[in-house]
Amino acid sequence: MSQYRALDGFANDWHMVHLGRFALGGAGLVYAEATAVEADGRRTHGDLGLWNDDQIEKLIPIANFINNEGSVAGIQLSHAGRKASERRPWHGETPVDSEDVSDRNEAPWQACAPSSIAYAEGWPTPVKMSETDIERIILSFGKAARRSKEAGFKVIEVYAAHGFLIHQFLSPIANHRTDRWGGSVENRRRFAVEVAKSIRSNWPEEHPLAFRLSATDWLDGGVEIEETIETAKELKAAGVDLVDCSSGGIGGKERPRRMVIEQGFQVPFAEQVRREAEIATMAVGFLWDAEFCEEILTSGKADMIALARELLDDPNWPLRTFAKLEDNPEYKLWPIESGWWLMKRNRLLQKLGLR
Ligand SMILES: Cc1cc2nc3c(=O)[nH]c(=O)nc-3n(C[C@H](O)[C@H](O)[C@H](O)COP(=O)(O)O)c2cc1C
Repeated sequence: MSQYRALDGFANDWHMVHLGRFALGGAGLVYAEATAVEADGRRTHGDLGLWNDDQIEKLIPIANFINNEGSVAGIQLSHAGRKASERRPWHGETPVDSEDVSDRNEAPWQACAPSSIAYAEGWPTPVKMSETDIERIILSFGKAARRSKEAGFKVIEVYAAHGFLIHQFLSPIANHRTDRWGGSVENRRRFAVEVAKSIRSNWPEEHPLAFRLSATDWLDGGVEIEETIETAKELKAAGVDLVDCSSGGIGGKERPRRMVIEQGFQVPFAEQVRREAEIATMAVGFLWDAEFCEEILTSGKADMIALARELLDDPNWPLRTFAKLEDNPEYKLWPIESGWWLMKRNRLLQKLGLR
């Protein structure tokens, strides 16, 4: 989850504490937020980055901490494309302009995209990427993968969802190109596949590579689940191990009419991609209930589940959920530094009849 707290792409103590508490809370895998592979590929001025070697150093203790506390450190690599140069959510989630220069000394920058089509009304028109731009950004993903490895991350997820650059290539709503990068579905997915190959040539075979896709755009004329299943097969052939099935984000800020939100509303996408593309999947979105989450896994709808906001509310959710499902209130899996005391307190409370 983007924190918008980085300075020039550099991680700091905030990221250590923010991510570290999820490792302590029992999460099996902790992803560092969308991390830009080029400076211009940041969504906001506060995004993390791995576009140069100097940015590796601050990430090393964070990845180490997560890996050493029984979790696995992952990182999400990203390029925002036409959604670059945006204000942080609490500054309006609108394009950066001259006001931001006076308010925060943060200048707008030119965004690029597969086609010169603005993200939404009132957004600047992005510059259409040249063949050279495309090839450079593909290489930048590979270089950021090499830096991720040097920082100590064990899993990479590529951000190819929610209307960011790779999704812009995948979706006919944002991609109107007529060259080999647009038009047919094979051409639209070429960028994603080339990014996967570029990462794979810089990322150890034994380390998983995941892609987060928007399984559907929820919009007529956009990406539908059938196309995503074929994309998943192509990505698998290019060395991708898992598809994280999210949805939406390509067509402006309004929620699409077809998108109905309920608990686990994106789980069917993870299930269908897993079954039909024969690739591991991760389910995400509006998950919080222990039994509901467990059923996703035990019934084989997905191989993993991802939680975002629920863990902001309670970073110990995985530990509590384990205790609940296993009927094990004894804080057995908690870090001993707190679990030991909590077990002791529990025994006392029970003895006193207070709990
Ligand atoms: C503060 C915040 C930051 C987010 N940043 C990212 C991000 O960097 N990359 C990403 O793929 N999704 C991001 N998301 C979306 C979440 O990963 C997730 O898909 C979404 O919140 C739905 O899951 P949830 O219902 O468990 O929160 C973010 C969500 C929140 C609330």
